[in-house]
Amino acid sequence: MSSERISRSVGAIAESATLAVDAKAKALKAAGEPVIGFGAGEPDFPTPPHIVEAAVAACADPANHRYTPTPGLPALREAVAAKTLRDSGYEVRPEQVLITNGGKHAVYNACLSILDPGDEVLLPAPYWTTYPEPIRLAGAVPVVLPTDETSGFRVTVDQLEAARTPATKAMIFVSPSNPTGAVYTPAEVRAIGEWAAEHGIWVLTDEIYEHLTYDDNVFSSVPTLVEGVRDRCLVLNGVAKTYAMTGWRVGWMIGPVDVVKAATNLQSHATSNVANVSQRAALAAVTGDLGAVEEMRAAFDRRRLVIHSMLDAIPGVSCMLPQGAFYAFPNLTGLLGRDFGGVRPATTAALAEVILDRAKVAIVPGEAFEAPGYARLSFALGDDDLREGVQRIADLVAASGD
Ligand SMILES: Cc1ncc(COP(=O)(O)O)c(C=O)c1O
Repeated sequence: MSSERISRSVGAIAESATLAVDAKAKALKAAGEPVIGFGAGEPDFPTPPHIVEAAVAACADPANHRYTPTPGLPALREAVAAKTLRDSGYEVRPEQVLITNGGKHAVYNACLSILDPGDEVLLPAPYWTTYPEPIRLAGAVPVVLPTDETSGFRVTVDQLEAARTPATKAMIFVSPSNPTGAVYTPAEVRAIGEWAAEHGIWVLTDEIYEHLTYDDNVFSSVPTLVEGVRDRCLVLNGVAKTYAMTGWRVGWMIGPVDVVKAATNLQSHATSNVANVSQRAALAAVTGDLGAVEEMRAAFDRRRLVIHSMLDAIPGVSCMLPQGAFYAFPNLTGLLGRDFGGVRPATTAALAEVILDRAKVAIVPGEAFEAPGYARLSFALGDDDLREGVQRIADLVAASGD
């Protein structure tokens, strides 16, 4: 018997750094501080009205006051299959779809369903802060593959191949990417999929930002382009980012039927079905048109250009133009060691503290994504706050000294 109060596996889980920054910013704001938060990966728009109306109607129907089957409402599983064909060209059957409590839960179900202790999972960095935790919870080992702006934050097949060992079971793939805003080209997606298929490596592909791409960058789905990977591919997705539905908690995992069945068993003892009313709302979302989505995308696109040009104009800061999602990921190493009124931050974690204390602006330091030297700024916030927030950082830097 262990004498520790908290189990080793759960005790090792770090707090979500992105949620922690957001919580701190919200607490300061509640205390009356004029904080501007670039922390949360959350659209500032309300959920489109037709989706809310479907949920209101669902509330009034007693059928929705009951459990649904664990893997989700049959109509929603069917609609997600149809939507997947419509949006990414990947044809799947409803039995291949498991409705989960958000995309995050899909990531957990996927990792716990296929990973065993000792398995290695290739994880390109900078990575979304959640990924390593369910990998470790399964007893598996994240193998981090660093990337930087010289490769557009995109991992290469050569890097993957150099890291492959007999223990390599899976890789995580996300495009458009949180936190970097990178989008892989179709040729790159195909090459990675073919490499995975050749070596029997599972691909966990997170497609939650599929609708948020800009300029001539296009989303492409690994299993659509590479048929050989489908038997070892889990697609992770959800309504949160596309339909401004972060609070509704609906996501899904798509995969081979045996994995979906196993993950359903896991979910049946953990959370059962997703809230019925939320499933009805998600059904309205994925069966509706993409008009509202396009309006939001256009707003993000406008903000993307503003945040990029304002950040890039700050001496000591360089920022890749985000290609997708709603994150800017500037390199801030040129600001480290400068004198900010008697404080000389040596790390981006310390710099983020200074920026929060002095400029009242919350950003997520790159340390949260295994990318010290960078920071993530979400541009899913209002245009005025966005300009004001970056201007405050620029003013703080202008007032700092060597
Ligand atoms: C890459 C990525 N995947 C999945 C999610 C999960 O979203 P949710 O659990 O809100 O559906 C997020 C949210 O930040 C994300 O950025």
